[in-house]
Amino acid sequence: MKLQATLAVLGLLLVGSWAQQPLLPNVTFPTCDSLEAQAAAQLSLDFINAQHTHGYKYTLNQIEDIKIITRADGTETYLMELEFLETKCHVLDPRPLALCPVRPKVETAVEADCDVALSKTAGVLSVTAFKCKTETETPDLDIPCLGCSVLIPFNDTEAAQLIKSSLDVFNKNNTLNSVFALLEVGRLSSQIVSGGAKISAEYAIIETNCTIDDDGVCVPLKHTVARHGFCFSEGLATSVNCQIFLPLEQIVDPAASAPAPPAPPPVLLHAHTAGPGFTPAIHALKHHKLTALHDPSASGLLSAESAESLEAVVPVVPVVPAVPVVPAVPVVDEVVVEVPAAPIVKREVAAEGEVAAEGEAPPAEEKAAVVQPAEVLVAAAVPLLPRCPGKVLHF
Ligand SMILES: *[C@@H]1O[C@H](CO)[C@@H](O)[C@H](O)[C@H]1NC(C)=O
Ligand SMILES: *[C@@H]1O[C@H](CO)[C@@H](O)[C@H](O)[C@H]1NC(C)=O
Ligand SMILES: *[C@@H]1O[C@H](CO)[C@@H](O)[C@H](O)[C@H]1NC(C)=O
Ligand SMILES: *[C@@H]1O[C@H](CO)[C@@H](O)[C@H](O)[C@H]1NC(C)=O
Repeated sequence: MKLQATLAVLGLLLVGSWAQQPLLPNVTFPTCDSLEAQAAAQLSLDFINAQHTHGYKYTLNQIEDIKIITRADGTETYLMELEFLETKCHVLDPRPLALCPVRPKVETAVEADCDVALSKTAGVLSVTAFKCKTETETPDLDIPCLGCSVLIPFNDTEAAQLIKSSLDVFNKNNTLNSVFALLEVGRLSSQIVSGGAKISAEYAIIETNCTIDDDGVCVPLKHTVARHGFCFSEGLATSVNCQIFLPLEQIVDPAASAPAPPAPPPVLLHAHTAGPGFTPAIHALKHHKLTALHDPSASGLLSAESAESLEAVVPVVPVVPAVPVVPAVPVVDEVVVEVPAAPIVKREVAAEGEVAAEGEAPPAEEKAAVVQPAEVLVAAAVPLLPRCPGKVLHF
């Protein structure tokens, strides 16, 4: 009875505070595995991959969080936390992402945690800004690991030799009648095998203006007309395995009748993992990184770490009943901490993080409002899936 009385009082307080702030934006929290969250995550992934012009394509591993802020004018801002994993497809590889295997942990996986802001205007969702942190997931070295491989730096001299000699083998022995040059190093690793360490290299190549009979200066062709490829070689470079991709200009939709073939990504690669173009800012010493910050409109949406603290949680749906419904099952105090099944709706106290709150603490009655109404408490007796994070797609 005491709880019900509290809820009734809360209800009155809520109605009071609500009426005073009619124009503040609403915040909704869909579940991380909802169709809405998945569609926004897919859009974010495609956008981030399109910005990524070196290294490997990334794929989604998990939706960690999502919230949607709705303003009075109807525009919606999605704020998402996503975890991506590096695949084995180089960014130039035309294979669709669904066919790109994910780099397993034993090969030292690379993961990226990205905060993404999207906006939805007139029903169209688009990415406004993103911020990513890329890291390696090293294999568990506690397990003695014959066969495990670890990454080695892009400027390793032994690996550079492996690349040079394996590319020579490819150039002397390919049927394409062209000489290819190194475009960029994708990944270098060292594997512990019975005879010691075995180095392997993955690298991208680009067609030059030389045929295999020319010797002299060979200059890479323009990206739009050159054939590109991706090679793997290991050990003593006696063999090399290169896949050759068509020039970007020739990648057209096989369904010839389709009027607009999917535009090839505006990839403008340059070898920056080795040689004079070496730019450590764009990659780490041993792996490629996603763009760390992309915010062309200086939205500031991703820099506000304090945004959370500026929101007061006010359940809007279901509305706290003014006359409490007598629950069918006696409500015990412990149930109060259960995660509610219904999506919570939050109300912003200040525009999300753009303005510092000047120490304005939310009024006490709003803090107390996290207590859920009676219907939800009853529903909490059945096992509930947490709203977030969503399911792990790979590992
Ligand atoms: C917030 O949500 C409530 C309840 O759904 C609605 O009445 C109100 O108009 C919304 N406010 C805005 C700014 O969208
Ligand atoms: C590779 O680069 C790192 C960092 O730039 C540098 O400290 C190291 O000496 C370089 N190694 C070689 C072999 O060039
Ligand atoms: C060309 O390939 C063949 C068979 O794969 C191999 O035996 C030969 O050594 C290669 N030639 C060169 C120059 O590497
Ligand atoms: C390739 O282009 C460079 C620079 O334009 C030129 O010096 C070189 O002779 C060309 N090579 C061939 C085989 O045409």
